[in-house]
Amino acid sequence: MTSARFQFPDNFIWGSATSAYQVEGATNEDGRGESIWDRFSHAPGKIEDASNGDAACDHYHRWRGDIALMKQLNLQAYRFSIAWPRILPEGRGRVNQAGVDFYRRLVDGLLEVNITPFATLYHWDLPQALQDRGGWPARATAEAFVEYTDVISRALGDRVKHWMTINEPWCVSFLSHQKGEHAPGWRDWAAAIRAAHHTLLAHGWAVPVLRQNSPGAEVGIVLNQEPVIPASPSAADYQAAREHDGYFNRWFLDPIYGRGYPADKVAEYLHLGYLPNGLDFIQPGDLDVIAAHTDFLALNYYTRKIARSAVLPESENLPATVQRQGEPTEMDWEVAPDSLRHLLNRIYFDYQPRKLYITENGASYSDGPNRQGEVHDVRRLNYVRDHLIACHRAIQNGVPLAGYFVWSFMDNFEWAKGYTQRFGIIWVDYETQRRIPKQSALWFRDAIAANAVTLDGDR
Ligand code: FCB
Repeated sequence: MTSARFQFPDNFIWGSATSAYQVEGATNEDGRGESIWDRFSHAPGKIEDASNGDAACDHYHRWRGDIALMKQLNLQAYRFSIAWPRILPEGRGRVNQAGVDFYRRLVDGLLEVNITPFATLYHWDLPQALQDRGGWPARATAEAFVEYTDVISRALGDRVKHWMTINEPWCVSFLSHQKGEHAPGWRDWAAAIRAAHHTLLAHGWAVPVLRQNSPGAEVGIVLNQEPVIPASPSAADYQAAREHDGYFNRWFLDPIYGRGYPADKVAEYLHLGYLPNGLDFIQPGDLDVIAAHTDFLALNYYTRKIARSAVLPESENLPATVQRQGEPTEMDWEVAPDSLRHLLNRIYFDYQPRKLYITENGASYSDGPNRQGEVHDVRRLNYVRDHLIACHRAIQNGVPLAGYFVWSFMDNFEWAKGYTQRFGIIWVDYETQRRIPKQSALWFRDAIAANAVTLDGDR
């Protein structure tokens, strides 16, 4: 049997990630205000199992034990998000000190055991009070974000030195305002495009505030990205691939790297009537703000996209030559590790970020404890291993990838899917809040200790 060893650079960071609404629970404690996810998840029919984040993993109370578990797993960094409605319950104005103190304790707890905090400022839990005044389609929400950024980075800027502004602006805008799948559940193209602009503007305005309040910190944004390939060599499928890439990837990458919004997409949205008032929401100087210099680009990667033209009747198109490979995860996402290498290479080649992190990567499989109380999640282990190898290959190709965060540290509230999907490397028994590190977690612990991934067998 052959075996291959993939040794990572010495300063490579191994971590895991969560977000506030998905793990904290305690939604009514210590003065936290309502968020759009409280409102949305409590509305009938929005969440697959009619659940919500009221209790989630009770991380708000159990964070000490969770940090101890992180330590046992050798994690070097923890990516978490800060709940805006804990800090500013009405979105702006009055600061809730108890909320600030929670994150101060959490951060101090991490630092005590030498785990580096990576803080995300916005992972989707907008204060409902701001939604009531228009939400992300309104420019004032971006202004409020800067106020919130200032408050929290003044409080934590001496100890948190890795900041991410917005998590996945595509989800904040299109998934939530055009597809209607996430809070606030709108189905309005024009609102989605405005929301996208305002999340990017919020990011751009926040960057200098973070630099001011957190000297020496690294600052960046988190994009979810899907490499796209056409299903067949037909012109129609190439066009479909380019359109999806523009919608999902370039709409965010281009303005962040100073190129403005992609012309092909702007023309398409105008043509389709999605922008009845044109680009009137872009004010002079906005695109310079959005192109603020950042220290890193953070990417969340789960799967690739095979694009098939919906315009051309199937009978007139060329036969699809690219098919989904293998068994998908329980989210019905194709497992495509090599596309992660392509993605990293493409983004570095095209946009030249100084540094990259994979801030989310992982898989939903529901494998639970056996009679001995062990969780043999071999498919997740393989998924994480193969994606780490893809990262290693990208590093060999010259991509400055500085770290990898597995999604997720523990099973949690998976948004519109509720608790039906388990992404954790730690099993959570929601009845008892007991945590059990899965086989993938133990494997990850050993990989971190070796700073390497080993692959046995002939591959
Ligand atoms: C990402 C989200 C994260 C989690 C994973 C599965 O889009 O950022 O919160 O839900 O998907």
